[in-house]
Amino acid sequence: MLSWDEFEQEDGAAPLVKAAALEPAKTETVNQESISPVTETPVAPVSPREQVANFQSSLDASEEERNANALQKAIDDLEELNIEVGLEELEGSANRVAVDDKRMINCRADLNQLVPFKYDWAWQKYLDGCANHWMPQEVNMTADIGLWKTPNGLTDDERLIVKRNLGFFSTADSLVANNLVLAVYRLITNPECRQYILRQAFEEAIHTHAYQYCIESLSMDEGEIFNMYHEVPSVAKKAAWGLKYTQELSDPKFNTGTIKNDQALLKNLIAFYCCLEGIFFYCGFTQILSMGRRNKMTGTSEQFQYILRDESMHLNFGIDMINQIKLENPQLWTDEMKEQATQMILQATALEIEYARDTMPRGVLGMNAAMMEEYLQFIANRRLIQIGLPEQFAGVANPFPWMSEIMDLRKEKNFFETRVIEYQTGGALTWD
Ligand SMILES: [Fe+2]
Ligand SMILES: [Fe+2]
Repeated sequence: MLSWDEFEQEDGAAPLVKAAALEPAKTETVNQESISPVTETPVAPVSPREQVANFQSSLDASEEERNANALQKAIDDLEELNIEVGLEELEGSANRVAVDDKRMINCRADLNQLVPFKYDWAWQKYLDGCANHWMPQEVNMTADIGLWKTPNGLTDDERLIVKRNLGFFSTADSLVANNLVLAVYRLITNPECRQYILRQAFEEAIHTHAYQYCIESLSMDEGEIFNMYHEVPSVAKKAAWGLKYTQELSDPKFNTGTIKNDQALLKNLIAFYCCLEGIFFYCGFTQILSMGRRNKMTGTSEQFQYILRDESMHLNFGIDMINQIKLENPQLWTDEMKEQATQMILQATALEIEYARDTMPRGVLGMNAAMMEEYLQFIANRRLIQIGLPEQFAGVANPFPWMSEIMDLRKEKNFFETRVIEYQTGGALTWD
């Protein structure tokens, strides 16, 4: 590549034709008569380097001027800044916050002041969530890939379970994340709860990532899996049921502050935390984790095990929020509201039982649809009790007690071949 130095020194002759072309034309366009012989002085030759430097300095001068103008404009605009109007835009007042000022919904205190804490349970869950951080790539999927590609590695019924669940969950976690960010976050007027909601939203992104990672690892038809919530009725119904409760609240004009709207928020929380995360996830979790117990699809099972642990914390956080809102706003928990909440849990249970039948047309993995039905009724009873409502299914027992144990991973040290032995914040998991 040529440089200016090479350009000037070429053949030892200077100036070159190209360099001369950069000089101003001195003779051709000048009227010779207008030039006085007395004033005519020889023009000192200007090297191309000098010409470039001169051109650059003229540019620098105008750029300097532009920068000065831009800075002046910024200063002028700041002079006009009305701090009062700016603070009004922030939620709540600008006064220092006392614990008693804090409320779950319709709070008037400054929401940008995290402390002093009022809801320690929310902050503790935020800390616990961070301490349990994990990423999908940390799970070894090699055995799953081998098994999935082996023609007789899994039965058709087992393959159906894997595909249906990746199809359902890959969409469901997006629905939960969207509901949190687009509907719930701005309506929960407490900073420590918001802190956990932000953590939860990120965990939902990790869960969606985990499903995508499984789908990609197993070279599945991504279009088929990600469109299942449009195309498979038992999946589509669950997604549509959840979405119904997002729609009203995600309207930017929606706000709490009336009994009707506060109840709409409460219904959304019951729909998403108790029903979607608390019931709709349980058939799929049980099926996939049951595979892991049989040493099949152990990587996928492990991903689901992590997800289940996160989800059980999401569920507990949601139940705490619901109960706290009820406590602070007893006028919302009317007989009609209790009846609606019970109906929602019954509907979710019915949809999940339908999903269980669709995904298990025959007995598989030591379980069948009838056992799952009893399990889901057992789960529904728990959800009802957790938010202060009476059980609806008398005499049901838990046919899968091992599921409760999985939710507390400390008890599960000997569960999988490749098992998690400890968690490290911000680092890779350790395997033995
Ligand atoms: Fe999730
Ligand atoms: Fe969740």
